[in-house]
Amino acid sequence: MKNILITGGGGYIGTNLVHSLLNENYKIKVIDTFWFGNYLKKNKNLKILKKDIRNSTDQDIGKPDCIIHLASIANDPAAELDPGLTWNVNVLATYNLINLAIKKGVKKFIFASSGSVYGIKKEKKVTEDLSLEPLSEYNKSKMIGERILLSYKKDIDLTILRPATVCGYSPSMRLDVAVNALTFGALNKKEIKVFGGKQIRPNLNMDDMIDAYKFFLKKKIKKNKHINDTIFNVGFENLSIINIAKRINKLLKLKSKIFIEPSNDPRSYRQNSDRIINKGFKPKKKIDHAIKEIKNKFNEKKIFKKESFYRINTLKIINTKKFNNV
Ligand SMILES: NC(=O)c1ccc[n+]([C@@H]2O[C@H](COP(=O)([O-])OP(=O)(O)OC[C@H]3O[C@@H](n4cnc5c(N)ncnc54)[C@H](O)[C@@H]3O)[C@@H](O)[C@H]2O)c1
Repeated sequence: MKNILITGGGGYIGTNLVHSLLNENYKIKVIDTFWFGNYLKKNKNLKILKKDIRNSTDQDIGKPDCIIHLASIANDPAAELDPGLTWNVNVLATYNLINLAIKKGVKKFIFASSGSVYGIKKEKKVTEDLSLEPLSEYNKSKMIGERILLSYKKDIDLTILRPATVCGYSPSMRLDVAVNALTFGALNKKEIKVFGGKQIRPNLNMDDMIDAYKFFLKKKIKKNKHINDTIFNVGFENLSIINIAKRINKLLKLKSKIFIEPSNDPRSYRQNSDRIINKGFKPKKKIDHAIKEIKNKFNEKKIFKKESFYRINTLKIINTKKFNNV
């Protein structure tokens, strides 16, 4: 398992995943529109195809051993901007990709779904067995993406990950995800703006996210796996937003003012990731590591206010309608 195709390999998670796999001598091909910039370092084992996955062809795919499918309109507000684009990218392009993968005899397919597919749950521990009641266009498109892929699981080794909100540094930084946004606010303006605050949400360190992809990449190939071997939550720290804010102040020895604003997202739940842990995955890092890392990168001037670090701003700037016609 050496040749890996990564869609969305230019994004927040993709950039770190690509660099990490190149360090282990994998041969990587990235297909990405690079809407938020290209921070991938040149490498003899890296091929880059700047292209929209909605138009991927046989030739674009090549003949990889595994596809890691990250390309997506990747958060709620960005997905609501243009729901047509969201469904085309997150669902129809996923359908196209799995068909190409099977046609080309690709052995493994790993899909980035999202922990947000569960919607509002009264159960305090959200396991993979609970029903999906997605609320937003983003969550719904991820659920349907999963369903499409599951209908092909007899033909390919399929893994679906439902990650919590990721935190930590990436050269293709995102400042629109919880821990990153709050930490940046504290460092940049000595202000932390919290929406709601009491909701409990699951979080995940970037390094554990990368390790989770590698964990499944290295697992033995098996088609038609049981659902318990196919779908995995990945989130190891369930924390209230207000506690994250307090923790940032404490860790960074800051006295940032915490503003509490009303939230329009009532979800509050604890993601349970016992299934992946029982398979042998060991998370290594905490959000505290991410907070300190963000501080260091901020001091090195690698994290600063930039439109593309807030995905929705870039998608607003780009005329998204244009992409529907590609
Ligand atoms: N970041 C998180 O906290 C988080 C949590 C759960 C799940 N996920 C999922 O993980 C994946 C990666 O997330 P991320 O945070 O790196 O997102 P991101 O927005 O930083 O990266 C997505 C990448 O996909 C590319 N892309 C989007 N549409 C494309 C298209 N039509 N054709 C080709 N490339 C396209 C973008 O240019 C970008 O480089 C996404 O599928 C996301 O839904 C992320």
